[in-house]
Amino acid sequence: MLDDLLQRIWAQLAIPVGPVRNPFRLMQLATLDAHGWPDARTVVLRSVDAGAGALYFYVDKRSAKCAQVSAEPRVALTALSPCGVLQVRLQGLAKLVDDAEQLQRCWCAARDKTQALFRHGAVPGQVIDSSESARATTADGFEHFAMMRIEATALEWLDLAQPVQQRARFERRQGDWQAAWLAP
Ligand SMILES: Cc1cc2nc3c(=O)[nH]c(=O)nc-3n(C[C@H](O)[C@H](O)[C@H](O)COP(=O)(O)O)c2cc1C
Repeated sequence: MLDDLLQRIWAQLAIPVGPVRNPFRLMQLATLDAHGWPDARTVVLRSVDAGAGALYFYVDKRSAKCAQVSAEPRVALTALSPCGVLQVRLQGLAKLVDDAEQLQRCWCAARDKTQALFRHGAVPGQVIDSSESARATTADGFEHFAMMRIEATALEWLDLAQPVQQRARFERRQGDWQAAWLAP
C-alpha cells in the first residue's frame, strides 16, 4: 500500500502544465542564507523525473537562492493541495543544471510569459528607485535563465481527508525508497 501511495504521489507531482491541475504546482522552497537563517519562497514545479526522484524549477541565476544552494545544497520543499488537505514535504539536494542542451530546450519550450520573467535588467532582490523601474528589460532573458534540480532524499505525505489522518515518510537509500507510516 505504501508503494502504491508513493507512485500516486509522484504521478501527481508529474502532472504537466495543461488542462489537468497539478495540486502541487506551487511549492515553498527553503534554503539557508549566508548567516544560517532559513529562507523560504514560492516556486513553480516545472517537471519531475520520478525514477531519479528529482524535481525541476526555473530560477534566475542571479537570485539569492542560487548562491545559497551552491554554498549549502541541502534544501526543503513543501506544498499544500488547493483543497487544503494534502501536504507533501521533501528534503533533498539542490544543484543548478549545467547541461546546455537541456537548458536551451526548456528555454525554447517556455511560454513568452515565463521567458519575460528573466528579462529584468536588475538583479533580483537588488534595491531599486521605484517598483516601476523593475520594468527595464534586457533583450533576451536566456543569460539569466537557470534550472534547479532537487534530488529528493526524503518525502513526507500527510492526508487530512482520511477518516484517520494518514502520514507516511519515504527515505531514499541507494536509489530505493524505504517507506513507513508515521503517527500524524
Ligand atoms: C506564485 C509564485 C510563483 C513563483 N514562481 C517562481 C519560480 O518558479 N521561480 C523563481 O525563481 N521564483 C518564483 N517566484 C518568486 C519567488 O517566490 C521569489 O520571490 C524570487 O524567486 C526571489 O527569491 P530569492 O531572492 O530568495 O532567490 C514565484 C512567486 C510566486 C508568488
